[in-house]
Amino acid sequence: MKEELSLTVNGQPYELYVKPKTLLVEVLRDHLGLTGAKRSCNSSSCGACTVILNGMAVKSCSVLALQADKGEVLTAEGLAVGNKLHPLQEAFLDHGAYQCGFCTSGMLMSSKALLDENPSPTREQIKEGIDGNICRCTGYNSIIRALTAVVNGEYKEAK
Ligand code: FES
Ligand code: FES
Repeated sequence: MKEELSLTVNGQPYELYVKPKTLLVEVLRDHLGLTGAKRSCNSSSCGACTVILNGMAVKSCSVLALQADKGEVLTAEGLAVGNKLHPLQEAFLDHGAYQCGFCTSGMLMSSKALLDENPSPTREQIKEGIDGNICRCTGYNSIIRALTAVVNGEYKEAK
């Protein structure tokens, strides 16, 4: 038995019918075709599926879609404004804060949630902000450098 789900994703409203056990990551990837949120551990451990739900970073593999009913979701696809990348995306590119890229969408969303809550985090607070996101490639230093550059105002948001 499917139930109705209303969701706004990256500013666009959606109405769909889902089973009670359908996960938010499944709705994003399989129903809406937004594959930025990656699916890996399925157990809230790796952070690859992180999106922002109602202003908070969540692991979308651990949220039932119906729990997000009437919610606002931001995914990595919603970060850029037109052709202008989000400052975090620019900084990740400039600082080589990715290699395989599998963790990158989730890392960006945790980073955004962190900076939305605290625009001037210390290095320790940056580390804490992304400690739910595992990166097997970069060793994290380039990611921390990218975030630090954004915190230092080296990248501006599109108006
Ligand atoms: S796939 Fe969701 S935390 Fe790993
Ligand atoms: S860039 Fe490969 S897991 Fe982070």
